[in-house]
Amino acid sequence: AVSSAFEDAPLVDVHTHVYLPRYADALRARKDAPRIASLDIGGRTEERLLILDGEPAAGRPVGPQYWDREEKLKFMRRHNIDVSIVSLANPWLDFLSPDEAIRLANDLNVDMDAYCAGSPIADGLPSLRTLYGFGVLPLAPQVPVSAIVDAVRTLKNLPNVRGVIMGTRGVGAGLDDNTLEPLWEAIQASGLVVFIHPHYGVDSTAFGPRDNGHVLPLALGFPFETTIAASRLILAGVLDRYPDLKLLLAHSGGALPALSSRLASCVAHDPIVSTRLKHDARFYLGKLYYDAVAYGPDELSLAAAVVGRAHKYSESGGSYDAEKASRQLLFGTDHPFFPPLEETQRWRSVDENLAAIQEAQGLGVTAKDEVRGRNALRLFDLIS
Ligand code: URA
Ligand code: ZN
Repeated sequence: AVSSAFEDAPLVDVHTHVYLPRYADALRARKDAPRIASLDIGGRTEERLLILDGEPAAGRPVGPQYWDREEKLKFMRRHNIDVSIVSLANPWLDFLSPDEAIRLANDLNVDMDAYCAGSPIADGLPSLRTLYGFGVLPLAPQVPVSAIVDAVRTLKNLPNVRGVIMGTRGVGAGLDDNTLEPLWEAIQASGLVVFIHPHYGVDSTAFGPRDNGHVLPLALGFPFETTIAASRLILAGVLDRYPDLKLLLAHSGGALPALSSRLASCVAHDPIVSTRLKHDARFYLGKLYYDAVAYGPDELSLAAAVVGRAHKYSESGGSYDAEKASRQLLFGTDHPFFPPLEETQRWRSVDENLAAIQEAQGLGVTAKDEVRGRNALRLFDLIS
């Protein structure tokens, strides 16, 4: 750990993915989605990523940007990103048998640690590397929780792995599954950050028969999935039992900030749940972390406002806390998704998410710098 007195405020990306080569190979070996297929596109053979249900038939073009460390570093240099906390992209190990999931999780975590260990030292941050990673857990149907807990403990031996990324299905019944209780206990004890990220969206019949490409599943389905997963964790009392869990929600928590008071009202009117929880449902939003991948200043301001107000809803009461509001938001890009049309261009997602921080209401100049980088360095234990 280094002192937090940087010359310039560092820029740290907490939402940035890689398909590690071993994972890409596992996807190439498959005949059904999720898979990487070599397809004939206009007379040329191209690799395509087919991972989502109902994806346009030819999928998305994939190349080195999805797996090559040099490409990640090039992207970071182009946008002055000092440090990235890289995560394996969706759908992780959900589709594997228990034995395969356990083996591949272990191998991929070793790969991730090496991927980061081989990265240069960050410019102006002499004791930090440019890359740190999230690990993966063998979360797939039927995997015994003891094996998942073992995987959490093994991550302690990988110095560049600072968290775990997971989807919302757990071992098949979601993240509020009672079976996972020992997992939350182990993760809380480990201090690792949990990045909760969507993959499945919602039932696609909700989007109707019109061809809207991939817009609705990505723009709405993804964040709704995260909204539901986080709400289920809150309602199950997981945050009451494990108050020190560090849960980071993708895409600024989706619709959760906008719906938190409605959620609280519905809980208050439902004795099954209200008697189970220690606090008003809004309190728990103050315990969560949110990436700042909201694409707009007003959406990001909303998340900050809800976090800042969460204390008011603790059992003991409290007041609006502007500092708290900024402490739990962290810059991200979602690289390598949503690339620009020209290879040499800046990425729109980067510029929009940076502008959102710059223009957000209720965040002072210092707070904006925290969101750009220092919150991440602190959360991932890279500075004291
Ligand atoms: N599409 C994906 O499949 N994953 C992301 O993280 C973003 C877009
Ligand atoms: Zn993502």
